[in-house]
Amino acid sequence: MKRVLVLTGGGDCPGLNAVIRAIVKRASQEKDWEVLGSIQAFNGVLWEPSEIVRLTPESVRGIHFRGGTILETTNKGGPFSWPVKNNDGTWTTVDRSDEMIRKLQYMGIDCVINIGGDGSQRISKKLFDKGLNIIGVPKTIDNDLSMTDSTFGFQTAVEIATESVDKLVTTAASHNRVFVLEVMGRDAGWIALNAAVAGGAEVCLLPEFPYDIEKVKEKLESRFVNDRGFAVVVISEGAKPKDGQQVFEVSKEVGYENVKLGGIGQKFIEQMKAAGFKHDMRETTLGHLQRGGVPVAYDRVLAAQFGVKAFEMVLNQEYGKMVAYRHPNIISVPLEDAVAKMNFVTMDNDLVKTAMGLGISLGI
Ligand code: F6P
Repeated sequence: MKRVLVLTGGGDCPGLNAVIRAIVKRASQEKDWEVLGSIQAFNGVLWEPSEIVRLTPESVRGIHFRGGTILETTNKGGPFSWPVKNNDGTWTTVDRSDEMIRKLQYMGIDCVINIGGDGSQRISKKLFDKGLNIIGVPKTIDNDLSMTDSTFGFQTAVEIATESVDKLVTTAASHNRVFVLEVMGRDAGWIALNAAVAGGAEVCLLPEFPYDIEKVKEKLESRFVNDRGFAVVVISEGAKPKDGQQVFEVSKEVGYENVKLGGIGQKFIEQMKAAGFKHDMRETTLGHLQRGGVPVAYDRVLAAQFGVKAFEMVLNQEYGKMVAYRHPNIISVPLEDAVAKMNFVTMDNDLVKTAMGLGISLGI
């Protein structure tokens, strides 16, 4: 029997379970393959004792519409930076990648499918360079990977953000207020831009375009006549003012290498008030609500396509590659290219032109 090990790494994302199910269903059509899952990304392999589960068509039945991941996930540590506590109570990290590859050989694993975002695929690339047979499946609600037209989870996040804009519009109009909706988007503003266009926001502030508070103020004031009016601002968590900083806190969690973004919505209100904006403003942060729950049909379909393709890449021994969507096809691209460049919003993007054509201010 040949063995493929599946794992999910990084932040979770609606559609992960649909990918796992698709891999297992496709693999079950082959007589000589079995599918195993590692719990919490590579931790399941590295832990003593290891935590590896057998994935069968029965064990993945009906999970395609469940949010999260049945394999659990982590965005802390990993085989190249495994957290270890020093005698003095401080923490350091060690590289356990060679040991992990030996463990995988010992377990009789022929190939690994790593479902994850840019950080996870960087790990895939480094493991491939060390000789591991590995295939990547891209995942991120931020849609910031450049080699795939889109990633599953993104449409679900946009849907949730858009529904929130719709809800805020009615209360904003009733109270003659400005509502500021902070959405996820660390370095790429795709969720904010799509939700602003779909929800009819007046202002959309993105990490890619540092905003000019005076220009935003001018736009928002134009929405009020004799103190009556309303507006919705959609702001990415990674947005920042011209000559200003992102709002974040450095995480103290062991092995967590990300900074925690969040709070720019409230900061933006303070900046508007300091700039002399008089109308009532309120802020809502969506946070992880955008990452949980049921994936929309589009994301389930994409996830199913990615899962089936990933297993077919296993059969074709297309190691060192990542599944990608290039309309209308599902293709494979080298991991090296997949992690080389991120997908950011640029001024020449057609959706930016659409937003500007609709009169949405980007604060620039
Ligand atoms: O990368 C996806 C993402 O949801 C970002 O938009 C966000 O900044 C980050 O993950 C949050 O990560 P965590 O779950 O560790 O707070």
